[in-house]
Amino acid sequence: MIIETALRTRQTSEYYFSVKLAEVRKLLAEGHDVINLGIGNPDMMPSEQTIQALANAALKPQAHGYQPYVGTPAYRNAIASFYYQTYGVKLDPLTEILPLIGSKEGITHISLTFLDPGDEVLVPELGYPAYRAVSQMVGAVVQEYPLREEHGWQPDWEVMEGLVSARTKIMWLNYPHMPTGAPATIALFEQAVAFAQKHKILLCHDNPYSLVLNKKKPISLLSVPGAREVAIELNSMSKSHNMAGWRLGWVAAAKPYIDAVLTIKSNVDSGMFWAMQEAAVAALQNDQAWHDSRNAVYQGRLDAAEAFLSALNCTWDSRQEGMFLWGKLPDSVESAEQLVNSLLLEKYVFIAPGFIFGPKGQRYIRLSLCMPKERIWEAVKRIKG
Ligand SMILES: Cc1ncc(COP(=O)(O)O)c(C=O)c1O
Repeated sequence: MIIETALRTRQTSEYYFSVKLAEVRKLLAEGHDVINLGIGNPDMMPSEQTIQALANAALKPQAHGYQPYVGTPAYRNAIASFYYQTYGVKLDPLTEILPLIGSKEGITHISLTFLDPGDEVLVPELGYPAYRAVSQMVGAVVQEYPLREEHGWQPDWEVMEGLVSARTKIMWLNYPHMPTGAPATIALFEQAVAFAQKHKILLCHDNPYSLVLNKKKPISLLSVPGAREVAIELNSMSKSHNMAGWRLGWVAAAKPYIDAVLTIKSNVDSGMFWAMQEAAVAALQNDQAWHDSRNAVYQGRLDAAEAFLSALNCTWDSRQEGMFLWGKLPDSVESAEQLVNSLLLEKYVFIAPGFIFGPKGQRYIRLSLCMPKERIWEAVKRIKG
């Protein structure tokens, strides 16, 4: 290439899965039966009413034009009802919700909206890689905060005090936590809000897993008194509604925050396909039985995933929530990278190494539950054989 890329591109690495899944595809193309337990890509269908709504709407002549930057009123109303029913949080559909093309893009929009070069961002030392990558892309300085197993994978607020500077602008938080599966608690959210209030930091909570294998009523950070002054919450239909490929999510916050994000976002994309928003409305009305049956399937896969970890002599915490199982490697395994590569090349089983979520994940692996249980058992058989 004779044109040099920007510094930010040179300083950013391609997303791990983007590289690794190309390797998986190559093995598949060579005829190998690869079992992919790496990525959190739901294999189950959205509800029937969702697909039907998409098909019906797509047939309408008015479906195909540009749509409002702020999403359709029907989609925003459906999100507001869902928030109230699920979390008991009242949102004004006109001013406190902004639909997103998946919550991942929201991380970029929020960072572009609030961060100047040199601002500091508190990022969990183990977490979704985009928080760190995007902060760096916009020229901010990443300040990692520790998440320790012995502390329930939650921030230690005394340690946090020492990490704040006059330039700290954003803190990323995500509970139920990916990749460790640590649950959300009201106490944790209250402490986070108090911390953000004290230091005038924008608390960005990423909440895609609250409905997946949750052991108690799902929680929104916005349910904590005072949260709206300092917090913004991302949510997504990828995992909770089996709609990862549809790219449907939203950000919820007080009006000034939403208006600010819209200033940036409206210069980036031009709304979402109307038929998809209609389908999202239908999906948000899935009843509790639908959510229960999705969770029952994941629950049924957990035995196989635990047998997989057990076959590798890993240890794990059985209180995990979300659609993964996070396991600690035994001392006998030299490195996660070596294990992941040998499982892929010798057993044709792909799992995620913990270090892709931060260097502190080096002695861990993450299994996804997005595979039929028979396939996970087949993977167990292969690694035992
Ligand atoms: C913690 C976390 N946040 C955000 C996302 C992105 O979700 P979406 O599909 O809504 O972009 C993921 C996806 O794996 C995730 O694990």
